[in-house]
Amino acid sequence: MKFCIENFGCQMNDHDTEKMVHLLLSKGMERIQDVNRADIVIVNTCCIREKAEQKFYSLMGRLRKIKRKKGTILGVTGCIAQQEKDGIGEKLPFIDFSLGPSSIHRLGEAVDCAIAGERHLFDFSNNGCIDSLLIKPGTRRGKIKAYITIMKGCNNFCSYCVVPYVRGREVSRNSSDILQEIENLALLGVKEVTLLGQNVNSYNKARDDLPFPDLLRCINDIDSIERIRFITSHPKDMSLELIECFGSLSKLCESIHLPFQAGSDRILKLMNRGYTIEEYRKKISLLRERCRDIAITADCIVGFPGESEEDFAGTLNLVEDIRFDGLFSFAYSPRKNTVAATLPGSIPREIALERLAHLQKIQKAITLEHNRAMEGKITEVLVEDWSKNSKEEVTGRTRTNKIVNFKGSSGMLGGFIDVEIVKGYANSLKGEVRKPIGGHTC
Ligand code: 5AD
Ligand code: SF4
Repeated sequence: MKFCIENFGCQMNDHDTEKMVHLLLSKGMERIQDVNRADIVIVNTCCIREKAEQKFYSLMGRLRKIKRKKGTILGVTGCIAQQEKDGIGEKLPFIDFSLGPSSIHRLGEAVDCAIAGERHLFDFSNNGCIDSLLIKPGTRRGKIKAYITIMKGCNNFCSYCVVPYVRGREVSRNSSDILQEIENLALLGVKEVTLLGQNVNSYNKARDDLPFPDLLRCINDIDSIERIRFITSHPKDMSLELIECFGSLSKLCESIHLPFQAGSDRILKLMNRGYTIEEYRKKISLLRERCRDIAITADCIVGFPGESEEDFAGTLNLVEDIRFDGLFSFAYSPRKNTVAATLPGSIPREIALERLAHLQKIQKAITLEHNRAMEGKITEVLVEDWSKNSKEEVTGRTRTNKIVNFKGSSGMLGGFIDVEIVKGYANSLKGEVRKPIGGHTC
């Protein structure tokens, strides 16, 4: 049978999709990209903002038509499945199964039921269950980068966020299991690992197992893993010990994603973020003291209920002072069950979008300045693939997580190459290899 998975959302969802692909391939099925030719279509969903939900429902409308013609089996997984629980069966009466993010280990069972003509909307009560964390996506030899889920869920209940409701409370995976998985990946040739979790820096906070900085130290000791990254971190859990890891662990890349969400203490309080702007700024200065060239990216929301022009000016100030390498900014979107959805002072959509455009314009110029400042510098690139834009160019990333495209050869794929940056663009860098072989290839 042929299956197709349509994926929406964050890296956790990307990784869950990798795991589901592995589960179905090991049942002897074939993965294809065309929903029209598939026997089974699975949609892995996201509900972090309304737009993601709308995209899902319009895709389901199209899939319903395909199902009418061809009898395609349709499954829904991910956060919308968890949010809607059994209600999804009424909203989308034509689907064959649904599974929340904590139940994806039961995908095979769900598919078998659907093939046998039974509808299966799974029990969604097992949000604390760790089984889905333990599935390892099959890794082909020669894969260069891999994600590893180290924890799931979130206990923070930021007032705007649906994640604690759909991904459940924090659960950390045993360090021994994580280290074993990374050792196996290293044997298969993986060079870069990204540790994943909604709140990675609170890994093992409430358990008698390795704290996060110690986990990083152990991974740093694994031969042939050359780069370590992690996403996403919460500023309040960014401990001094973790900050010390930057610059002292040779494989920990000089890059961090540290969402600040708002530049005003009043809004941060309403958001239930648990830190002040001063504390956030302090952590950024410590990170920069520790590791001068660290690239810093963040998330932020504009148009949160009650956000005044003055509050928004605080966000602009922070962005101009810190000069992030990149910023993911969003207009606030009210979400079901969340406290923020009940707050007074909703901001008209056109004002929120105006503020967003203003912020994005400022950030775009800063990102471009950062990228132009790289011109003339030699930097190590882990080459990942051929570039999509040119047949002669390969593409990879710097340790600071910037994309570099440069003229290269197939022998460079999977290797570390020293590249001179010749041009900085808005979203990438152009490089040139000055020496035939630089850095260390493998
Ligand atoms: N509205 C807008 N943006 C949101 N985010 C999370 N919830 C919402 C919401 N209700 C943003 C935050 C978070 C990122 C993944 O999505 O900035 O860090
Ligand atoms: Fe959502 Fe806040 Fe948890 Fe991040 S820390 S997942 S924004 S509740």
